[in-house]
Amino acid sequence: MCGIVGYTGADTAKRILIEGLKRLEYRGYDSAGVALERTSAAGSCELDIVRRTGKVAGLESELAHMDPDSTCGIGHTRWATHGRPSQANAHPHVSCDGRIAVVHNGIIENFAELRTELEGRGHRFASETDTEVLAHLIEEAYAEAGDLMAAVRVACTQVVGAYGIAAVCADEPGVIAVARKDSPIVVGTGASGSYVASDVIALIDATRDVVVLEDGQFARLAPEGITYTDADGAPIEPAITHIDWDIDTAEKGGYPDFMLKEICEQPRVVRDTLVGRLGPNGELDIDELGLTFEELNLIDRVYVIACGTSYHAGLIAKNLIEAWARIPCEVEAASEFRYRNPIITPSTLVVAVSQSGETADTLAAIRDARIKGAKVFGITNVVGSPVARESDGVIYTKANKEIAVASTKSFIGQIVSLTLLAMLLGQAKGKLTTGQIRMLFHELGDTAAQIQWILDTQREAVHRAALACKDAQSALFVGRGMGAAISYEGALKLKEVSYLHAEAYAAGEMKHGPIALIDPGFPVIAVTTKSPTYDKVVSNLKECEARGAMIVAIATEGDEDIKQIADHVVYIPPVRDAFSAITASVPLQLLAREVAVMRGCDVDQPRNLAKSVTVE
Ligand code: G6P
Repeated sequence: MCGIVGYTGADTAKRILIEGLKRLEYRGYDSAGVALERTSAAGSCELDIVRRTGKVAGLESELAHMDPDSTCGIGHTRWATHGRPSQANAHPHVSCDGRIAVVHNGIIENFAELRTELEGRGHRFASETDTEVLAHLIEEAYAEAGDLMAAVRVACTQVVGAYGIAAVCADEPGVIAVARKDSPIVVGTGASGSYVASDVIALIDATRDVVVLEDGQFARLAPEGITYTDADGAPIEPAITHIDWDIDTAEKGGYPDFMLKEICEQPRVVRDTLVGRLGPNGELDIDELGLTFEELNLIDRVYVIACGTSYHAGLIAKNLIEAWARIPCEVEAASEFRYRNPIITPSTLVVAVSQSGETADTLAAIRDARIKGAKVFGITNVVGSPVARESDGVIYTKANKEIAVASTKSFIGQIVSLTLLAMLLGQAKGKLTTGQIRMLFHELGDTAAQIQWILDTQREAVHRAALACKDAQSALFVGRGMGAAISYEGALKLKEVSYLHAEAYAAGEMKHGPIALIDPGFPVIAVTTKSPTYDKVVSNLKECEARGAMIVAIATEGDEDIKQIADHVVYIPPVRDAFSAITASVPLQLLAREVAVMRGCDVDQPRNLAKSVTVE
């Protein structure tokens, strides 16, 4: 959460910072600001600080009248942690003399003690944020060292917590000092200068060869290039990562919003995630896991740990792992797992699922699981992300960058990856033959065309269902088995983007409470695809119908009977129950988006949310 960006070079810093901040806005959007270097009439370098609440577009208008000549600056888009969203709390934060400015992503845990000490030494604070202590610590260290990079290194020895920092100093024009611990930082040099950002998406126009800084590494950006040091100031040569995804990902490409664009990309995500995964003899090729078949065979328990939508992908995986590998699989919110004392042995496999690869709770759970002796696999969308780096093996979902805050295509990529993992475990345990693997693999691949069919033929049906839901106060999502897992994600999606209260329940549990909510017109969205529990779900729906519920059914193409109880039906093609999550999730994503659009919500940037949650 929070996005930082910086540029120094020959180009217009203002434009580059604003473009970068817009691309980073998914990380937080309650306020934004920049610090731009300016040469005064007297020839000295000064810092212009501009901050305001609200989205980056507002900051952009404010900057329109400013001097376009600045060629060095830093910027920030915020998701508030310490201190409400306000102009005073927006970054950059500055030193007492106004000559040092800092942007920060992360949390300084010992900021209260540091602030008291700094105030005791005469520093004046202008905000309620944890970040501001950094500006004052760097100011003190700069007075001693007379070198910005060295001052940032000293400040970092004093703080406890997580940080990605970029700092500028009016006494060192053109220099940006960068530090990183537990918050992402990427740097790169393009034709016109040097760039830093929280995410490669902000600098991909300038360069595709970037350095993903590691914890404890520092970078000094200057117009002519970047130098790297470790915590002692010794030079280092970090690895270069080449970014191969397409910049089109960062554009809406004719779609009204990123969420719809990303929903429509899902057939490609399925195909790309499966490329090269089936060997000629029907064996699955997931070498990145780093475990042999014999080692996989020894696994006797799986935990899937994740947050939000990724947690729901885990619920789907549990059904598959238990069905195909016949080993117990538990799914836990990472924020719970890390504070329990789960039963972990060397034969436990922990699968950490995280789109961003930087969710604080998931990372903490990974560390805890490894200390306890588990093997940890990461499933993430971001190459080189902390989840990838801290896991024993990693499967990359091939979703490409996801911009809309509410996850859609990443979710489908996660399910496909987890399905492969479940098949692999089934094969290693001797429960699935290579013939079965081959058949499952091809059916899994067919879901790409099935999603396309839904996108091509069911949009109108979804639209009608959305019209029927849009004025509701609340909605219930129900299903059984795989359908229950899908319902949880359907309800989350609707809540996230439309602010309509929604709850998901295993359909069989309805009569133990939720059915009390139902009165005439109450929306019940049911996953009633053909499955072993189809008849049971239909019975539960009849109970809802009897109480006047307005029923939207996600059903299997050809199921005409469902029309007798459902007010609206959205079809998915016939599909094996194991793969129904991949297809049945699509109408629910479309429904959530349609309802949100009808209610006038910003579907790409819902209020209060952020795409990367780097705080606990
Ligand atoms: C946030 C996002 C969700 C996401 C969750 C977990 O809440 O808004 O879309 O599912 O974090 O994120 P991760 O990156 O770990 O999958």
